[in-house]
Amino acid sequence: MTYVAQGDFAPITRLETAVQSMSVDRPTLVLDVDRVEYQFHQLAQGLGRANIHYAVKANPTREIIERLVNIGSHFDAASRAEIELCLSQGADPADISFGNTVKKVGDIAFAWHAGVTLFAADAEEELEKIAEHAPGAEVYIRMIVENSQADWPLSRKFGCRGEKAIDLMAYAVELGLKPVGLSFHVGSQTKRAEMWTGVLDAVAEIWHRAVAEGYDLDLLNIGGGFPAFYGEAIDAPAAYAARVMDLVTARFGDVPRVMAEPGRGLVAECGAIIAEVLLVSKKSDDDMHRWVYLDIGRFSGLAETEGEAIRYQIATPRDGGEMGPCILAGPSCDSADVLYEKRPIMLPLALKSGDRAIIRNAGAYTSSYSSVGFNGFPPLDVVVL
Ligand SMILES: Cc1ncc(COP(=O)(O)O)c(C=O)c1O
Repeated sequence: MTYVAQGDFAPITRLETAVQSMSVDRPTLVLDVDRVEYQFHQLAQGLGRANIHYAVKANPTREIIERLVNIGSHFDAASRAEIELCLSQGADPADISFGNTVKKVGDIAFAWHAGVTLFAADAEEELEKIAEHAPGAEVYIRMIVENSQADWPLSRKFGCRGEKAIDLMAYAVELGLKPVGLSFHVGSQTKRAEMWTGVLDAVAEIWHRAVAEGYDLDLLNIGGGFPAFYGEAIDAPAAYAARVMDLVTARFGDVPRVMAEPGRGLVAECGAIIAEVLLVSKKSDDDMHRWVYLDIGRFSGLAETEGEAIRYQIATPRDGGEMGPCILAGPSCDSADVLYEKRPIMLPLALKSGDRAIIRNAGAYTSSYSSVGFNGFPPLDVVVL
């Protein structure tokens, strides 16, 4: 069984060794926090003058936050609980942005009293909530992204369209807030830096219009989208981030404050899930495909297999033998708990119940998506090396 990761990270063998030798009794995400630090430095090198605000939602494991605080990361939080987590690990509240555009008023008040001063908004009512519970705060307006080429797009639900961003800046001023800039999210797992071009063009147009109308904008939040390796080639993080920053600078010039909010690109490759094959079966004797059921599924950590968007690489001890197409499913009694069917996955013909399945580069959006125990299957356990 071999574990493959991108880049030249020498201690990668530590994760490989651990997932092969560790004995577990439930699906377990094994994390190597040194790898997070490595990714942070790679991204920071490429991002240059942009500050990294780690998107805590990607993986809120305490040891990851602690390490990132120690190496100078800032944080993008989505809720009071995420802010509390960062503060508990020593983060400076001034380094935490409250990036969710749909916040509970109690969370806004908590954040403001804790010293968080930077908030996202994409609607009038959100600005009113911020003005009431964090009077005088800095706000950036999130723009909707129409032309995402990401594997996991984040368009539609968040952001406002075009001119509305400028109207919201005017309203923020009226409410006594400080509109300092714009944010967007190009879409998660945007595999190539060039895919940012159309999105950056659209945001830059509004940015320059706002500046022409007299808004003194000094903050551009370029969000996440930095990819992880799931089997298809991607650029190394430093080169990717540097190219994104070139594209940003060409359109926005020297904006004083640029923030990036990587989640997946920072933590996906630092983790692997140890899972177990529960059953290999066929629905009829002449079935072309085998069904392979794992002890982890859509509800216990692999939510991003929805639409087969994120295709994890799976290693088994029987790799190297003859392979055949499989439909991969989770263990629960819910028929939505099928991971890969439209594009079946190739697994060894010798695979059988009880075999270990290692799900590679699964450090992002897995433990944080895991249900408490749907169907009685335990949530994803987390072990930090
Ligand atoms: C506001 C915000 N910033 C950053 C991220 C992280 O994105 P990614 O994991 O693609 O880097 C997300 C992901 O949902 C987000 O909602």
